[in-house]
Amino acid sequence: MQGSAPLAWAPSCQCPSGNRGYKERHVYRKAGCPWWQFCRSLKWQQRPTELRAISEELVARQAEPIQLNGSSHNGSPLELDDSTSIQPADSIPPCELQPGTTSVHGGERDGRPRVSDSLTTPIVQTATYTFQNTAEVIAYQEGRYGSYEYGRYGNPTTRTCEEKIRQLEGAEDCLVSSSGMNTATTMLLALVPAGGHIVTTTDCYRRTRQFIQTLLPKMGISATVIDPADLGQLERVLHQHDVSLFFSESPTNPYLRCVDVRRISQLCHAAGALVCIDSTFATPINQRALALGADIVIHSATKYLAGHNDILAGAMAGRSDVLAAVRSMHNVLGGTLDPHAAYLLLRGLKTLDLRVSRQNTSAFEVSRRLERHPKVARVHYPGLESHPDHPVAVEQMDAFGGVVSFEIAGDLWDTARFIDTCRLPYIAPSLGGCESLIEQPTVISYWDQGPEKRAEYGIKDNLVRFSCGVESLEDIWRDLEQALAAV
Ligand SMILES: Cc1ncc(COP(=O)(O)O)c(C=O)c1O
Repeated sequence: MQGSAPLAWAPSCQCPSGNRGYKERHVYRKAGCPWWQFCRSLKWQQRPTELRAISEELVARQAEPIQLNGSSHNGSPLELDDSTSIQPADSIPPCELQPGTTSVHGGERDGRPRVSDSLTTPIVQTATYTFQNTAEVIAYQEGRYGSYEYGRYGNPTTRTCEEKIRQLEGAEDCLVSSSGMNTATTMLLALVPAGGHIVTTTDCYRRTRQFIQTLLPKMGISATVIDPADLGQLERVLHQHDVSLFFSESPTNPYLRCVDVRRISQLCHAAGALVCIDSTFATPINQRALALGADIVIHSATKYLAGHNDILAGAMAGRSDVLAAVRSMHNVLGGTLDPHAAYLLLRGLKTLDLRVSRQNTSAFEVSRRLERHPKVARVHYPGLESHPDHPVAVEQMDAFGGVVSFEIAGDLWDTARFIDTCRLPYIAPSLGGCESLIEQPTVISYWDQGPEKRAEYGIKDNLVRFSCGVESLEDIWRDLEQALAAV
């Protein structure tokens, strides 16, 4: 890093506006502007005067490599050894990349701080970050020196995951956390005020519903639950209540209902409400909810993003002002992803496009064949014309995902026999990994609820949720077919 760089860059990039588009910030970062992360965190907006009055002394000190146990670095952990940082000419702007390339290179080849010649992003396995002296601590406190300070506030390996997912979702910022549930609960706690009202949809992951129905009311937060397609009811609720947030999965778990993200965003924004879409079942390969108008997209990164059934993780992407509020809550609640899990997430993300493309193709074909099978009463897959939200899905998704839900022509025990006769998929909750998984929601997720509650939630005894892995389609089908013969 040139000693004069911060003083040269800071005034010219006019960061005090604080609301720069991503592309511009990206250019500043690529060109070596050491203050790009302040644009992102909006610190420029908060304290432009102090930031402009950067101490020449600190700048000079950052430019001089400091000897640390035989190795040298120049101060900010976010800006290590700029002499080796990737130059603008070496990298391709993310806006020109297809998702398959972004999932491999996003956040890594085009922007990760270079701490060694390692091709892969290092696992920075640390709980805390050190300072050279008190002046550096004060510079950090005053926003003149970049550090994560403590493991709960950030980590370079995790930050690289965030950057890759941010690019894939076309977001301004991204926050990764310890699980999908941690992401959802932190988001709701951060964005809905005490006594607030939210709108959510009927078909939903059980634990998210449990949080909304049993824990949010303790803060006086109430919810109206609508059918995913009932925009008329949404309009009425927006009219009757001071709604802070609309929250829905799309596609939903387990019936793969799809909400019209564009229309819902228009209605909610006109009423001053934020829109958050849980896009776990879609992935950014199949659907970019932010481009459709949503403010926030969340994922159980445990599923397709990590993709190998080996870690739990969550991710949230969206507007930087919204993310700043959630990050601040996250720093208090502490749902931090372990750096080793962050590495596995990063590794899984590299093959996201490959895996999801194959899972899309297999699931679509399996759904078509199941629909024609006499032992199957009904198939729920948004790619099929028989699905109630097929037109919405076609409009807003590039492909329809790797999960197929279907009803066996039989009762709970016929369905259990079908599942027990399958040899290729594991019987397990979860979805989105390389291995095909099969489950009977009545038994695996709702057994404790009893028939009445299950009927209330629409969970049928003969329902099967099948998550296509990356195995060969004909092997998947042959196994399902032989198991159907046992019904
Ligand atoms: C749609 C959806 N969102 C969120 C979650 C929760 O994610 P996690 O298990 O990573 O906490 C799940 C879990 O199955 C899910 O299916």
